[in-house]
Amino acid sequence: MASSLTNSHSSSQYGSNPVKKDEIRVNEMGSEIVEGYTCKPKDYDATRAIMHYKTLLLLCDDERCGKAGKDDRATHLRELLKSMGLNKGKNRIKVSRSGCYGACRFRQVCQITENTQANGNLENNALWLKETHRFDDAKWQEIFEQLSQDKLLIDILDENDFIPMKVYE
Ligand code: FES
Repeated sequence: MASSLTNSHSSSQYGSNPVKKDEIRVNEMGSEIVEGYTCKPKDYDATRAIMHYKTLLLLCDDERCGKAGKDDRATHLRELLKSMGLNKGKNRIKVSRSGCYGACRFRQVCQITENTQANGNLENNALWLKETHRFDDAKWQEIFEQLSQDKLLIDILDENDFIPMKVYE
């Protein structure tokens, strides 16, 4: 018998834990998840469109970045976005975990990717943030507000929040 009905990304209690036997959980799209998985829907449709996002945060969760923070940052940021109503809709901000970028000295690395095929902001695209494990919720909320309102991150962040980039010959 099912003991609960919750959203897969609604609580850090799940983290990346798969659905257990007799547990009912739904994913971000509202579909019930297959036992043994964290997000695979029971009503699988290979042709179903992916959920629109305006901004994608690629948060490195590989060995060194993943150990930088004391908690599961990706799950926490998803919760924060949900509380702000930015987990869906035309200004949705999506958080995905990435593997190592080879920039571990700047951990915890977060790359910002704007959906320039839709309503993404070109000027916020391809920005790289460093030491994001030190950002508190207030700072993340300010970042999310800025991104969702199409305002520039360089207007609210310090130069030292960005990873420098150069061409090596
Ligand atoms: S582990 Fe994140 S950049 Fe290497």
